[in-house]
Amino acid sequence: MPMNNKIRHLENVALSEDGREVIIIDQTRLPGELHYIRLSSPEELYLAIFELKIRGAPAIGIFAAYGLCALAAQILNSENFHQRLREYGEYLNSSRPTAVNLSWAIQRLLAIAEAHKDRSPQDLLPLLQQEARAIHQQDVSMCRAIAEYGKSLLRENIGILTHCNAGPLATSRYGTALGPILLAHEQGMQLRVFADETRPLLQGARLTAYELQQAGVDTTLICDNMASQVMKNGWVDICFVGCDRVAMNGDTANKIGTSGVAILAKHYGIPFYVLGPSSSIDKNCQSAADIPIELRSKEEICSKYYMKPMAPAGVKCYNPAFDVTEHNLISGIITEKGIIRPPFRENLEKLMSEAEWEGPQSE
Ligand code: MRU
Repeated sequence: MPMNNKIRHLENVALSEDGREVIIIDQTRLPGELHYIRLSSPEELYLAIFELKIRGAPAIGIFAAYGLCALAAQILNSENFHQRLREYGEYLNSSRPTAVNLSWAIQRLLAIAEAHKDRSPQDLLPLLQQEARAIHQQDVSMCRAIAEYGKSLLRENIGILTHCNAGPLATSRYGTALGPILLAHEQGMQLRVFADETRPLLQGARLTAYELQQAGVDTTLICDNMASQVMKNGWVDICFVGCDRVAMNGDTANKIGTSGVAILAKHYGIPFYVLGPSSSIDKNCQSAADIPIELRSKEEICSKYYMKPMAPAGVKCYNPAFDVTEHNLISGIITEKGIIRPPFRENLEKLMSEAEWEGPQSE
């Protein structure tokens, strides 16, 4: 089996056979160790998202859906089953605020519970599990479609720059921003990828470089502040990044540093594309101003990945986990339904109002 098949067939999130645990790859241990962990209590599930053991917008949505199923299975005999399920949903949803896929997936599960309130918890559980599996399966098909649309923009020997990690580990199978790259490579196209390391948590170095290297893609890791230099050298023809929430005017939240890449790309005349499933588009967000940005602890900047602290004790730090790229810097948004181009508001509204559109459709 070629290397690339191995990486995209890794199951990074699953429900255990007895339905009471969620099994994930602990992404904080990569690239050193490919280690699976099993989680069952509400606190373990919350912390897995908060501590980025599972991360990437679509992956945390799938994880939360399975997490709610695991928790439901543990309270089947509880008198206030429905209330507890809603409370668990709120709790998991409070783990990280920016990626809309988290609340989207939880809402889908809670809507099933609400629609079948008259059933016993025992009868409801299989329906919840079915919905969670559907969310997972739909993500697989959406990533495949995104990969196909994105691949249509690639050609032989092209240089691609990406930021953070939007590969199979952040989704299911191909990933979003890495999807077209893995697919094109699989089909024999020669590509060169520049992966930003992505300070402070190094998802680019730890995860993107790992995934692309496993797949055998020509990959060069750079520090975030080197992107301008590689663009100036003429090595980058296109930028592909993922997304955590897309507002209706096209403003897009993604990992901190993404908007800087977009500004550089504009400066050097390089097309900049956002890739993500339609579950990352938030009808309730009109623009950047409506997107909540997660702030994280200063330890991530000062000491987390160092042998000893790399900043003076007590220094003030500002650590936003995401930023918003303004729509006028974006050449196109690639979803499973196609490539959306400006004017984004008009075209996103059209996409969201398609007949019977209720979020991503199954295959
Ligand atoms: O903090 P993270 O690692 O969850 O941030 C992830 C990103 O910003 C990804 O680019 C985004 O979630 C898209 S994943 C397909």
